[in-house]
Amino acid sequence: MPTKLRVALIGHGFMGRAHSNAFAQVGRFFDLPYQLERAVLCGRNREPLQAMASRWGWRETATDWRALVDRDDIDLVDIATPNATHAEMAIALARAGKIVLCEKPMAISREQGSEMVEAARNVPTMVWFNYRRVPAVAYARQLIDEGRIGPVYHYRAVYLQDWPALGATTKTWKLSKAGAGSGVLGDLLSHIVDLALYLNGDISEVSAMMHTFAPGREIDDATMAMARFANGSVGSFEATRYAVGCRNRNQFEIHGQLGMLRFDLEDMARLEYFDATAPPRLQGTRKIMVTGPNQPYANNYWKPGHVIGYEHTFIGALGDFLQALAAGSEFHPGFADAQKVQVVLDAIERSAGSRSWVAVE
Ligand SMILES: NC(=O)c1ccc[n+]([C@@H]2O[C@H](COP(=O)([O-])OP(=O)(O)OC[C@H]3O[C@@H](n4cnc5c(N)ncnc54)[C@H](O)[C@@H]3O)[C@@H](O)[C@H]2O)c1
Repeated sequence: MPTKLRVALIGHGFMGRAHSNAFAQVGRFFDLPYQLERAVLCGRNREPLQAMASRWGWRETATDWRALVDRDDIDLVDIATPNATHAEMAIALARAGKIVLCEKPMAISREQGSEMVEAARNVPTMVWFNYRRVPAVAYARQLIDEGRIGPVYHYRAVYLQDWPALGATTKTWKLSKAGAGSGVLGDLLSHIVDLALYLNGDISEVSAMMHTFAPGREIDDATMAMARFANGSVGSFEATRYAVGCRNRNQFEIHGQLGMLRFDLEDMARLEYFDATAPPRLQGTRKIMVTGPNQPYANNYWKPGHVIGYEHTFIGALGDFLQALAAGSEFHPGFADAQKVQVVLDAIERSAGSRSWVAVE
């Protein structure tokens, strides 16, 4: 008999939809010993909340997340609300013994992050750094672990969007310090820092700049950082919402002694690989389609060559988390992993403020 896992989701916006879909689909793509119940959808605005609940199959709705804390008929709570609200919710829910899933950036400061880690010490956690679960990204990690690119020299990453530059004037918490804590630092750079930690290990120091294009805006529109990694490689990170022409370009390029790997979310089924150990007359960049066989997630989704999409990154993250939960093994990235990202973001902010190199400690 599968164990029942009664789920509550807080937030019914963009990520509310992506997560609702993941909860609905995960059991179709992953073998799980759980029967997931989409029990409560929580938000503040009753009408759209109700509409969303009926569309995505949530049994009931709630307009105050605090009501979830003491409910003993809820096992897992997923937080998909604005950044500044994560810490208070996660801390209260973890202390009440809930399994806590939380959107990125986990927190709006390093201090908040460390309180969250402390509060969640005894409960399973996950942070939705979903890009780790793109099959091509997981494949990059496999190739690195196999030593295919050898010792790394350069790690280069960008995350580029353009919506405020194109005059999106809708009022959104994403452009306010009170709602988001920061601009692209927390929103976009957090993703590429997480991928860097996953693929290339710890970062030891950073030198950064943060820039705001819009007059009067309190948050960063563009942040760039140079980094030294503990493994001796050097890196650069660029995140901006003013890269006109780029809707959601998340890319990395890793140069090692024996080869190169390159990924671009806009072509997410593929990983580019240059093998410097091949005979020189045959050397060239291969564009490997990562849909199987014998590649990550090949057995979860469709037949080789049949591509998957953005939504599968959330299904994959949730599937891996639930399988780890069932096996009693540690899942990554949990709160402690996301705190490593917070520590790097904090160093970047301090470096930009002081216009100097800052150690990541
Ligand atoms: N993993 C990713 O790739 C990814 C992508 C986009 C957003 N995000 C993150 O997801 C989170 C949500 O972003 P979004 O794009 O879904 O935002 P959104 O504005 O579309 O939705 C936010 C939701 O939170 C609800 N909400 C706000 N305050 C609340 C409160 N106090 N109690 C209950 N509900 C509340 C709103 O009503 C809304 O339903 C953010 O932390 C964001 O950084 C992650």
